[in-house]
Amino acid sequence: MVDISVIGSGYVGIVTGLGFAELGNRVIFVDIDTKKVEAINNSIPPIFEPHLEDLMKRNRKRYYATDNYDEAILNSQITFICVGTPSNHDGSINLEYVKSAAKNVGKVLEEKNRFHVVVVKSTVVPGTTEDVITPILEQNSDKEAFYDFGLAVNPEFLREGSAVEDFFNPDRIVVGAKDENSKNILSKLYSSFDCPKLFVDIKTAEMIKYTSNAFLATKISFANEIGNICKKLGIDAYEVFRGVGLDHRINPSFFRAGIGFGGSCFPKDVRALISKAEELGENPKILKSVMRLNEEQPLKLIYILKKYIPDLENKTIGILGLAFKPDTDDVRESRAIPIIKKLIEEGAKVVAYDPVANENFKEIFPDITYTTNVEEVLNAEAVLILTEWEEFERLDYTGKIIIDGRRIEKAKKEAKIYEGICW
Ligand code: UGA
Repeated sequence: MVDISVIGSGYVGIVTGLGFAELGNRVIFVDIDTKKVEAINNSIPPIFEPHLEDLMKRNRKRYYATDNYDEAILNSQITFICVGTPSNHDGSINLEYVKSAAKNVGKVLEEKNRFHVVVVKSTVVPGTTEDVITPILEQNSDKEAFYDFGLAVNPEFLREGSAVEDFFNPDRIVVGAKDENSKNILSKLYSSFDCPKLFVDIKTAEMIKYTSNAFLATKISFANEIGNICKKLGIDAYEVFRGVGLDHRINPSFFRAGIGFGGSCFPKDVRALISKAEELGENPKILKSVMRLNEEQPLKLIYILKKYIPDLENKTIGILGLAFKPDTDDVRESRAIPIIKKLIEEGAKVVAYDPVANENFKEIFPDITYTTNVEEVLNAEAVLILTEWEEFERLDYTGKIIIDGRRIEKAKKEAKIYEGICW
């Protein structure tokens, strides 16, 4: 049993902290957002994530939240930094929250006598922990990193929507560490996990995280490019990827061609890697194409729609799905954003339904119609499917015009007019 503090209660922080609590550790969450602190202390999940509420209820005695860094760090042995690393306007990584967390942690470390390990879980470009975080911690604590206190990197590979399951069943655990104390403490913390555990140097761990996300994003853009060619040839891309994925070197997952990738990770991480590469004098051609294809792909759906309704002015277009993927209410970089923007530009009237993301999407597009009655969407002149929610496999599409960006089989079978983006 270890006492852990977690800085930042976004989906990475909250899931990681509760995961460790479930394993028997005591966890203190630190967040500057007092509403989140209150929610956590009342066992109310601060985000929509399957199984989170069960974890919170079951482990209520093993965690609490505070906005007080002193209390959290003085009463724990390990601190996980799990704050967000958004993009700057030029695509480079914004380290504002990480720097502020490091400063606050550093200040408390000055007063602390017992050994403490700081673990960076936030996604940071290679070099950040040693070149940016280390000096901030050292200056504010007046102590030496890797001697007076431990410092390590432990990237997360959690998917939104299945983050709890991913925490308990990881494909691998990666730890970037330099000092033996940190290595030992983290290896003990993860001792009950039965998966490959890689202990590497700090920069390598940071790069493993970026390379994983960049590769997966590349696989999706590749699938979409092949899918676009398949579509022109009258071939079903899904059948193609089924055949291709059986090659064990390629693997069948992450081959769902569609309107592209969104979310808070892939777009931001690929942009940050491009920006870092350019700073180093490299021109990352593949990564740039991955992003370009991802920006063009959603608009292909509008192109297909216009084959059936050439003039969208004053036409009612239904939207099924706003979240960037199913099982989340997150709409960050959702591919629904460029599609709805274009529909509005063309003068269409948009009526949208998402099982959980209507409210979040309203913040971006307050003026379109949102409904909780999916029939209103199905009664539009044409319907675009933008997220593959499972419940969309149970709707009645008979007689409808459906343009599908995510492959809903029932729509494919039933609709009067049906076209998929890559099939
Ligand atoms: C992603 C990674 O999958 C996680 O391993 C990683 O930890 C996380 O980013 C992160 O860096 O924090 P996530 O963004 O939650 O997780 O979502 P994914 O399930 O990977 O999906 C990302 C996007 O790709 C979605 O918009 C999804 O619709 C799209 N996608 C995914 C496809 O278009 N096709 C596919 O075959 C798979």
